[in-house]
Amino acid sequence: MYVCVCQAVTERQIRQAAEAGACTLQDLRRDLGVSRDCGRCASCARQCLREALPGVSASEPLRQAA
Ligand code: FES
Repeated sequence: MYVCVCQAVTERQIRQAAEAGACTLQDLRRDLGVSRDCGRCASCARQCLREALPGVSASEPLRQAA
C-alpha cells in the first residue's frame, strides 16, 4: 500500500527503512522523501514507522529528532 503518494513510498519501504535504522519521521523524509511535498502522509507514515520499530508500542510517541 502507498503511504506517500507524492513520492510513491510504500509501507514496505518504510518497514525496510526502519530495519535499516530510521526511527523518526525526519529519517523517513531524508531517506525516502516521505512528507516532503504535501505532507498529508505524515501521520500515516509515523504510524507505519511505529508499527515497524521493534519494542515500540503503537500508542507510544516516537522519539523526536534533535
Ligand atoms: S503524500 Fe506524502 S508528501 Fe504528499
